Amino acid sequence: MKIERVTTGGGRKLYIETYGCQMNVGDTEIIVAIMQAEGYIYTRNIEDADIILVNTCSIRDNAEQRIWGRLKEFQRYKRAKRSLIVGIVGCMAERLKEQLLEREPIVDIVAGPDSYRDMPRLVEAASAGSKGVNVQLSQEETYGDIRPVRLDSNGVSAFVSIMRGCINMCAYCVVPYTRGIERSRDPQTILREIGEIYEAGYREVTLLGQNVNSYRWKNEAGEVVVDFPRLMEMAAGVAPDLRVRFATSHPKDLSDRLIEVMASHHNICKAIHLPAQSGSSRMLQIMNRKYTREWYLDRIAAIRKAMPDCAITTDLIAGFCTETLEDHAETLSLMREVGYESAFMFKFSLRPNTFAARHMTDDVSEEEKTRRLTEIINLQNELSIASNRRDVGKEFEVLIEGHSKRSEEQLCGRTSQNKMVVFDAARGLKAGDYATVRITDCSSATLFGELV
Ligand code: 5AD
Ligand code: SF4
Repeated sequence: MKIERVTTGGGRKLYIETYGCQMNVGDTEIIVAIMQAEGYIYTRNIEDADIILVNTCSIRDNAEQRIWGRLKEFQRYKRAKRSLIVGIVGCMAERLKEQLLEREPIVDIVAGPDSYRDMPRLVEAASAGSKGVNVQLSQEETYGDIRPVRLDSNGVSAFVSIMRGCINMCAYCVVPYTRGIERSRDPQTILREIGEIYEAGYREVTLLGQNVNSYRWKNEAGEVVVDFPRLMEMAAGVAPDLRVRFATSHPKDLSDRLIEVMASHHNICKAIHLPAQSGSSRMLQIMNRKYTREWYLDRIAAIRKAMPDCAITTDLIAGFCTETLEDHAETLSLMREVGYESAFMFKFSLRPNTFAARHMTDDVSEEEKTRRLTEIINLQNELSIASNRRDVGKEFEVLIEGHSKRSEEQLCGRTSQNKMVVFDAARGLKAGDYATVRITDCSSATLFGELV
């Protein structure tokens, strides 16, 4: 006799919109896996949805404003289908908790980043007419056993989350409050997932965490048996033609050992995202970053020495509390000194509850933040073009991701340094193949080349 497990989804259709970082994209894939196992069907069409979930971001105020705006738009779907359930999940759910229900009556579910296993029950509660709320953070949850359902993937590169949460307590940052304490995922489950991805045809994996350098897996006696450099070695050992990347590193923890491991494996990509946030040691101290400009530059020198071809990218914040024109000038000079390949650049946004909100004053005017950010962006554009120009004439191994956006006759893919290359297609070459490409031209965002 066949015994069927009773599921609660009953074929109801689930639609999810994702905002924020790669971790959130990964979490959405975990939510879909959990819901599919309960008999829900994933849909890309919002009109079909019985349940709409929004996986949210709180990192800056404008990220939250965008989501409030989007919630207003959902009202019309709710009017069209009275049984429609709307859920807010992720960082904004964790930050605002029940307040979300008060501010926006169309919301039925509020679920924080550690409560996704509870999602089916929360939907049940909402279906029964009450509100489903779970914003409990966990010290252990890593969803290590769940196989994410890969959505919107190019079939070539995939992200694998190796840890959750953060304990760094940068003065500006809301993440420790929304994603909870740092915890590492069991390396066995990580390697199993990477192996499955490779078997499915993927050729590039990015190991993800808020601060991957502090990844550590302990045995029962509490000894660290796998640290991040070791995990990278193990990941690189899965297959020689599987590229391995990682994001994000905290400069304070970027070890010589990791640099050594990167330099000694062909399939570990030569690209490091190393958020500096500021070039001024005074600002770094106020931000509680736990390194100085000198320390940061020493790490850059160590990377360059071991891997002269390594791309270095960064995050920068303009106008944090008390930032002077001298501090700002130091950020510009750090950018020149490092010569970043690219950067994510932001105006400081004061987030409730953070150290900055509790103990500092947001004293750089909005106009001045905008002015400083514009200077930073303009300089980065120059640096990005200069970096791309240096690549003209060189040859790179490119992992093909598919056809270029503009033409079926052209392919696009990335170099180990994570730069996008567009080149003329050739018979037989397809997504997931490697090709050697000589760079002939560039724009600020793209390299153009020809097959060698
Ligand atoms: N305001 C502006 N930018 C921020 N970031 C984090 N918190 C804030 C904030 N309150 C930026 C940092 C971080 C990136 C993910 O977002 O640069 O590295
Ligand atoms: Fe990701 Fe941070 Fe935004 Fe949360 S608040 S989604 S961790 S960027």
